[in-house]
Amino acid sequence: MCTFVASKIQSRMSKRYTITSALPYTNGPIHIGHLAGVYVPADIYARYLRLTGNDVVFIGGSDEHGVPITIKAKNEGVSPQDVVDKYHAIIKKSFEDFGISFDNYSRTSAKIHHETASEFFKTLYDKGEFIEETTEQLYDEKANQFLADRFVTGTCPKCGNEEAYGDQCEKCGTSLNATDLINPKSALTGNVPTLKQTKHWFLPLDKHEAFLKEWILEGHKKDWKPNVYGQVKSWIDDGLRPRAVTRDLDWGIPVPVEGGEGKVLYVWFDAPIGYISSTKEWAEREGKDWEPYWKDEDTKLVHFIGKDNIVFHCIIFPSMLKSEGSYILPDNVPANEFLNLEGNKLSTSKNWAVWLPEYLTEFPGQQDVLRYVLTANAPETKDNDFTWKDFQARNNNELVAIFGNFINRVVVLTNKYYEGVVPSASEFSAVDSATLAAVKAYPDVISSSIERYRFREAQQELMNLARLGNKYLADEEPWKVVKVDEARTQTIMYVALQIANALATLSEPFLPFSSEKLKHMLNTKTGNNDLNWNDVAQKEVLLASGHQIGKAELLFTKIEDATIQAQLDKLEASKKANEAANKAAEPQKDTITFDDFTKLDIRVGTIIEAEKMPKAKKLLVLKVDTGIDTRTIVSGIAESFTPEEVVGKKVTVLVNLAPRKLRGVESEGMILMTESAEGKLVFVNPDDANVPNGLQIS
Ligand code: MF3
Ligand code: ZN
Repeated sequence: MCTFVASKIQSRMSKRYTITSALPYTNGPIHIGHLAGVYVPADIYARYLRLTGNDVVFIGGSDEHGVPITIKAKNEGVSPQDVVDKYHAIIKKSFEDFGISFDNYSRTSAKIHHETASEFFKTLYDKGEFIEETTEQLYDEKANQFLADRFVTGTCPKCGNEEAYGDQCEKCGTSLNATDLINPKSALTGNVPTLKQTKHWFLPLDKHEAFLKEWILEGHKKDWKPNVYGQVKSWIDDGLRPRAVTRDLDWGIPVPVEGGEGKVLYVWFDAPIGYISSTKEWAEREGKDWEPYWKDEDTKLVHFIGKDNIVFHCIIFPSMLKSEGSYILPDNVPANEFLNLEGNKLSTSKNWAVWLPEYLTEFPGQQDVLRYVLTANAPETKDNDFTWKDFQARNNNELVAIFGNFINRVVVLTNKYYEGVVPSASEFSAVDSATLAAVKAYPDVISSSIERYRFREAQQELMNLARLGNKYLADEEPWKVVKVDEARTQTIMYVALQIANALATLSEPFLPFSSEKLKHMLNTKTGNNDLNWNDVAQKEVLLASGHQIGKAELLFTKIEDATIQAQLDKLEASKKANEAANKAAEPQKDTITFDDFTKLDIRVGTIIEAEKMPKAKKLLVLKVDTGIDTRTIVSGIAESFTPEEVVGKKVTVLVNLAPRKLRGVESEGMILMTESAEGKLVFVNPDDANVPNGLQIS
């Protein structure tokens, strides 16, 4: 038997962790960018910490206030509550579907959150932590409304981006006040806003500068990611200014102090408090005390976010917590950069995304594949690109060919040789001992990457363990040895089964569904063989001789080219639709008189016959019943329609157009057509959602 391997993990004390992940805005479903940047890494971290025996609360929830939600509601003609109800349900389900193991998923419209945020504001107000000031804010005279945050767009004073928002420039990451924008424009009406006086409460960030410098710039220079540290430093170096934490809006949490009537808390004031409210909700349900998770210095608080959230989590929220006085501060804020899709920025409005609900219908049961690829490509240090070809390659060449292949061989052979009973080992060869020792080193190796928030590296190490297993079997060839040496075969299979069970546990944070399936296959859910993280390093036997395993099931399946092509086609269609939507409508032609108009004789007709014009790519020869007669019309629609498709169609016909010959066939009139968003010709039917306003009928 192999020797006991001492583990560093033994010295890691179990600790209390509060892990938060950015609360998504409920103005749309979530896509792979959200998953890659925030939720998958947070989930890996939380699952890992639970497996290593820590006291973990992993917090999520929906961010249901803020301007993007009111804009969405306005565009759809529904109430903001309708919008958040719809997307809260969709988002919550996506997280469940992808195995994001929140201990609680709340929402900022919940009563407990309104109370918590309100109280937090009042405490700061009573302590004199705010500045009260009447200032001039942007006002839209046409909409009768103050404009802040995403209600205004304009030029970023810092980088010149012309599409900066009133709260932030997404290009350079700078956090802005609406009045900072050059050439501001109302997002509601397009109007140039005027200035109007209004009273607000400001958090004097400048007052917290010294503390922030000491805490982050000095205290976290080494352990915070360079992208996070760099952004914070440049913000502080630029000089901090007071920041308004209230708004003149009617969607949000009412300002709970005198003079606050008609105003609400700024969404970035209330939303991070949502982490606290969600923890309270969880504690109430579980019969626990929420306070140690937020107030005990021994608790490690970690915020998982995307890079556009850095200043809010590293400067504003900590200043709020510090002002309140009784809270701990984050130990780390491991923000990721952005994920692109096939070379372009992910975009909700341009529908340039892979939406989670759609992925799940198109790749049922394959959540782990997406989790795996997003982690393998995680934008940890720089923006990264998701491509469907890479997705396919990583599935086929890594998950299927390495991990899946190893497990499948082990389980199939164990069933074949021993009716599924783990054999006992006789004498270990040097390779066996080295292999078993290597297996026991993996928990520490992977831990060390995870604890430094290097999830790509951690997952690569997990795959190296699967590679080790694969190589072991390929080198030892039990399928050959079985013909000559029964005892040696048993030893080989014993070693391979130890690796398989190590993989079942160590894969759990990354591939929770496959880990579950593997545990089921190895039949370790009951009895003594379900390992926790530290067991893999510490237990001498990882899967006991005599244990009965189950039958082989496929962990991963090959993804075919056609499946990938279908995804690429879908993106291509999005691109075309965007191009068409962006195409400016043709300018109006010269005015005509009513008499001019009445010269046109336009009738409804039906196409009764259609055939291709020989040797002409674009032309169909149609027989059309115009109600007056049946006539021949040559129409240039052959690239958009087959003859079969158009027979029976009702069409609009200009019947008194002078006849003309096309390729020798006389055409007596013209079918009116327009072009869909995808660039396909369509019959005039303005009800068709694909036909944008302004398209010419011709
Ligand atoms: N809703 C924000 C976004 O999607 C994130 C909010 S994080 C929290 O960018 F701190 F407010 F919770
Ligand atoms: Zn900018």
